[in-house]
Amino acid sequence: MDDALPPATRRPVTDAEARAAGHRWWDSDADAYLAAHGDFLGEVDLRWCPEGLREEQARLLGDVAGARVLELGCGAAAGARWLRTQGAAVVGLDLSAGMLRHARAAAARTGVQVPLVQADALALPFPDDCFHVVFTAFGAVPFVADSAALMREVARVLRGGGRWVFSITHPMRWVFLDDPGERGLVAVHSYFDRRPYVEQDSRGAATYVEQHRTLGDRIRELVAAGFVVTDLVEPEWPEGHERTWGQWSPLRGRLFPGTAIFVAVKPDGHG
Ligand SMILES: C[S@@+](CC[C@H](N)C(=O)[O-])C[C@H]1O[C@@H](n2cnc3c(N)ncnc32)[C@H](O)[C@@H]1O
Repeated sequence: MDDALPPATRRPVTDAEARAAGHRWWDSDADAYLAAHGDFLGEVDLRWCPEGLREEQARLLGDVAGARVLELGCGAAAGARWLRTQGAAVVGLDLSAGMLRHARAAAARTGVQVPLVQADALALPFPDDCFHVVFTAFGAVPFVADSAALMREVARVLRGGGRWVFSITHPMRWVFLDDPGERGLVAVHSYFDRRPYVEQDSRGAATYVEQHRTLGDRIRELVAAGFVVTDLVEPEWPEGHERTWGQWSPLRGRLFPGTAIFVAVKPDGHG
């Protein structure tokens, strides 16, 4: 039918619509996500991105021994468990009960336990100034409509001098089709189109929502929340790494970045 709604489009969504879609999507996709990527992510390991960068090498979180750490959008929480083995007191938080079910199963298999909380990153159930480090690998940030509010919420729970590190799809990827092959090498979308990518059902209800901000937008949101940006890491595609993950592939990875990792600090004297 000519007037059928497209299954995927770019259109504005409200926070409530994004949250509802995210909730349903990650609950129903959790098994498939872990089946596809669980071996790469590991059970007690922190990988920042499909390029494979490990925290063990990158040390973006600094020395975490004795630190109170919060992982947002932790999924199966392999990163939180790895940080536990490094001496941190870690809490894993995720919106999705399906993901947290995998986190509990992996904790039982590995014997590495961390507290797990089901909550929305936009409303963290923690007091002000209580964590030394907050981080996420591709969790929460790309899925909330109001990411400026998320930056403020992270600033609220961080102590002065605390660190906020998050990885996301590199904003420049948004000009390309979501395709790991040759078709994904041609610029087709405006980098400046901030409308989110939305998959929707036949009635137009969003089933998956992912948000785009430019690099400048991300930095402005961090600065407005009181952060000082100390690094922007663009992991290079490693020699000999042949694994494709969605739109991330050796072909594209050798030509342009697929991941951006923001490292920011809440200045001391701000809580
Ligand atoms: C791409 S997965 C990443 C999971 C994990 N960090 C990893 O590296 O495998 C995104 C995760 O973010 C979670 N998420 C999405 N929106 C969220 C929100 N508003 N608050 C908390 N978690 C959220 C999802 O449930 C999902 O587990």
